[in-house]
Amino acid sequence: MKLQYLVTLCTVFSAASISVAAQSAQELLDSVLNPDPADASYSSYASQIYYNATLYNQTPIASTNFDRLEASAKLLLPATAYNYAAGGAGLEKTVAANREAFDFWRIIPQVMHDVSPSRNLSTSLFGRRVPAPVVMAPVGVQTLFHPTGEHATAKVFGEMGLPYTLSTATSTGFADVAKANGNNPRWYQLYWPSDDDLTRSYLRSAKQNGYEVLVVTVDTWDLGWRTRDLDQGYFPFIRGIGVQIGLEDACVHEKLGFNPLAPNATAEQKQMAALYHVITTSRGISPVWRHLTKLRDWWGDRPIVLKGIQSVVDAVKAVEYGMDGIIISNHGGRQIDGAIGSLETLPAIVEAVKGKITIGFDGGIRSGADIFKVIALGADFVQLGRPILWGLAHEGEKGVRHVLKSLLAEFDLTVGLSGCQELGDVNSTLLAASSFAPTTDSFFNVSLIVLDGISDPSSAAHQLDPGLKPIALLCSAPQVLLLHFPRGFDDFLVDSLGLGSTADIFHGFNQQDSVKHPKSNDVLRIRHKARRGIYHCAFVVVACGGESEEPIACSRFNVIGVFYGNSWKTTISGQ
Ligand code: FNR
Repeated sequence: MKLQYLVTLCTVFSAASISVAAQSAQELLDSVLNPDPADASYSSYASQIYYNATLYNQTPIASTNFDRLEASAKLLLPATAYNYAAGGAGLEKTVAANREAFDFWRIIPQVMHDVSPSRNLSTSLFGRRVPAPVVMAPVGVQTLFHPTGEHATAKVFGEMGLPYTLSTATSTGFADVAKANGNNPRWYQLYWPSDDDLTRSYLRSAKQNGYEVLVVTVDTWDLGWRTRDLDQGYFPFIRGIGVQIGLEDACVHEKLGFNPLAPNATAEQKQMAALYHVITTSRGISPVWRHLTKLRDWWGDRPIVLKGIQSVVDAVKAVEYGMDGIIISNHGGRQIDGAIGSLETLPAIVEAVKGKITIGFDGGIRSGADIFKVIALGADFVQLGRPILWGLAHEGEKGVRHVLKSLLAEFDLTVGLSGCQELGDVNSTLLAASSFAPTTDSFFNVSLIVLDGISDPSSAAHQLDPGLKPIALLCSAPQVLLLHFPRGFDDFLVDSLGLGSTADIFHGFNQQDSVKHPKSNDVLRIRHKARRGIYHCAFVVVACGGESEEPIACSRFNVIGVFYGNSWKTTISGQ
């Protein structure tokens, strides 16, 4: 009876994973619980959970909800290890900002699209086809969370064919991690040593062990002010955890004059080697852009990715310096307190460098819906950090597998339920800024109306395109940002656009956007102080003087278009 009931359930819930050729109820169930890998969709993990619980009384090893997962990991871990991973810099405002930035965006699902259960989430990253845009973030000292540490995480990411990034602060060496990871994409994250000999040696070992992409962390050349660790006086590396790459390195042995891993090495020698690795890799002196040419020489033409980018200026520089990728990251809020949430900075960086360089993202991803938002905003891949660590705390590889499968399943479901069949369908038209967004700085799409230079409102007034006014009225709360215009122009706009008052007009230009000379078809993401509530439309009126690019007096103007919500609503031009 129970079986029959479950078979009915199977057919209702798990079309993706059921073998229609199944002859018996048991066969049908087997096809749900052990789907053929070729047909298995990520979302079928949900069915497996339901059936395992109903049939065998087996519930998942940990919660599928991040907050509950973290809570149970906390109970399993020593306070030092839990705080080391959970904590951030200072008052942990950046850790919070990373999460708040996700709350700002809301998904707008679209329905009745041609969506099938086997959705295609695959993508190419640095020349490798991967089944989903999901990568393990470099995270050091993983044996703090389970004795199997990097073995477990590298094994599970390998099983799933997703790139694994090994940290320079690893507690497991290059070769052992490579063995656990198998013939799967793996990357190496460099904390750039102050000694070039060591850098070359680490890169050599990475190459020899099949690490394909070099991720250079550029935001952590000195440790942030990590209050939880400071209060406990806890820094695992001086205790000899997370220094394995140094301990195993031939060049380190040569410099020290001994091998700390030799059977006859003394405890003092081991400690010395550990300290040597820490001091040379956390050097307190920032790496500089011009030295990237050295890395390029040593690493060759394999991909190099800079991790820790938060500004448009640095993203553009990474392109100029011939980097293959960037990872937008603030190190999980562990470096600077009071910094911008990582997701807040993503849209502007996408705007500036999308298509010129591969864009990765991390910071605050806690669910499959979060992954969806990051991809919709234009990142090419996401990295998972803390959720995987909390999974690791639950019996090592078992917990990691559960967390990774859960995140992928929710991502897959969100893609499908939003009306998308493949990764390329996921874009920013499926997102809206929340109307409950707090009163903070925020990015949003604004219209850009380019008016050829105007300095005299009276001459402009009679020439404003009549098409503009109806469009302004379509918007529930039209806003105008006036650039390079004389103040007298405000009243004219209030009248002609039907604005409530001049309070709806903002003056000035935020230098951060560094679009000094916008062209006709530019779409700007203007960062400005949002009042409570959200603007459904904003007009940016720019005076630009044709060829000269400087605002000039001109009696003629063209309204180029209106970007309303997420798309160009119309293109108008007037004389
Ligand atoms: C990290 N992170 C990190 N980054 C890096 O480049 N090298 C490293 O060795 C480490 N180590 C590390 C340890 C721990 C315990 C944490 C929590 C983080 C930062 C990591 O790669 C990533 O940027 C953040 O984890 C992303 O933030 P969330 O999503 O984990 O909050």
